Amino acid sequence: MASTETKGFTSSFGAIAAAVGSAVGLGNIWRFPYICGQYGGGAFLLVYLCFVFFIGMTLMITEFVIGRRTGRTPIFAYESLAPSKKHHWWRYAGLLGLITSFLILALYLVISGWTTNYFAEALIGAHVGHDSSSITEHFNTFSTSALRPIVFIGVFLILTAAVIVGGVQKGIERVSKILMPVLVVLLMVLCVRSATLPGAAAGFAYLFKPDFTLLTGEGVLAALGQALFSLSVGMGVMIVYGSYLPKDDNLLKTSIWITVCDTLIAILAGIAIFPAVFASGQDPAGGPGLVFMTLPVVFNSMNPAEGLPIGTIFESIFFLLLVIAALTSAISLLEAQVAWGDEYNPAGKKSRRLRNTIIISVLMLVLSAILSLSNGAWSNFTIGGKTLFGFVDQLNSIYLPPLCSLCAVIFLGWVVDKKAIKDELSNHGTIAIPWYKAYMFLVRYVAPIALIIVLITGIVNSL
Ligand code: PHE
Repeated sequence: MASTETKGFTSSFGAIAAAVGSAVGLGNIWRFPYICGQYGGGAFLLVYLCFVFFIGMTLMITEFVIGRRTGRTPIFAYESLAPSKKHHWWRYAGLLGLITSFLILALYLVISGWTTNYFAEALIGAHVGHDSSSITEHFNTFSTSALRPIVFIGVFLILTAAVIVGGVQKGIERVSKILMPVLVVLLMVLCVRSATLPGAAAGFAYLFKPDFTLLTGEGVLAALGQALFSLSVGMGVMIVYGSYLPKDDNLLKTSIWITVCDTLIAILAGIAIFPAVFASGQDPAGGPGLVFMTLPVVFNSMNPAEGLPIGTIFESIFFLLLVIAALTSAISLLEAQVAWGDEYNPAGKKSRRLRNTIIISVLMLVLSAILSLSNGAWSNFTIGGKTLFGFVDQLNSIYLPPLCSLCAVIFLGWVVDKKAIKDELSNHGTIAIPWYKAYMFLVRYVAPIALIIVLITGIVNSL
């Protein structure tokens, strides 16, 4: 196995760009705005902020410690950080993470395929002149059809795999350093447009004005689930990225950067969407269909009767933004699989990255194609009343990430040798860590209790 020095990210900026790339994804731009609106806007935001900074960030630091300390992928990382042989079974926590990231990637690819299709359609002006009902019908026909979604999953997957084949430095780090600034610029353009439309104020009120009557228990659970998903924690991806972090990076600072960027981008996405939705008189509570069914109508309404179809240009920018966000997240999910393959079956010094990427991508394509078909042709096949897509989605949103997160905090808080944790957090005693006690309190008590509550409630609700 190559040493961490040669395989990891080359700079702090590159590391943060890649990790922010992983964190910022469909979760921020597609999911966050609609659940925020659904559960009381500002009220949801307050709860979300608490969860993201106290629990999500605690988990991120935890995964970084596990990854960077060992320089390995989750299964081996748990095993080698365990204090004695009798704790080696903790490697199954790593395996659970690997399975979770595999399943999440399969779902993620389906939505990313839709996004890529919508970007292509926006570019050629395919939605111009269509009203709300024909756009809704178009989405329903498209997402349940057999071939087209799979073709676009394939296109998106090839892009993702190409970056992974390029390697950690020349692929992931380089691409993230270019795409993340581009993403921020595109998002700013959309925010300015949306926020300056007449009638935008209602959108701001929807997003920020706290309505505590809408913040149900379900909303609080959704906030925690969203915090984990959005920070890409709870499936070992940040253990893998942690193993690539420069040894002298301050883990707390890096985690704060990632968390702040991720949260700001989610809020900006809300600003890019809601004022425009209100300004054009559409329904903001569009749920998951907000992006694919409501927004094309919103953008159409910005098109002048004659001349440059400016709304459609903004639509293309929006879907490009979404493709970029999805791409850098899918890269991290695929990397988690490929890196494991490389470590599991090292071919001497020669990396098997290309071979592993191809094998895993083909498997992923098959699984996502099956999930995609379960929305249409195969929707008769159900598990517990849910289509396969719905079932895997439920596994991924309710059970697996909180379970993996629980394993990580219990492992670090109660099993791993405290000296090793302190040593890693302080970069071998070279930086002060006055926050150590607070962090350990969060890892040992607050995070496990919150995660257990989420898990139990999730299980009870779904019975
Ligand atoms: N954080 C990503 C998003 O917000 C999703 C993701 C989850 C990516 C887990 C990697 C690992 O869309």
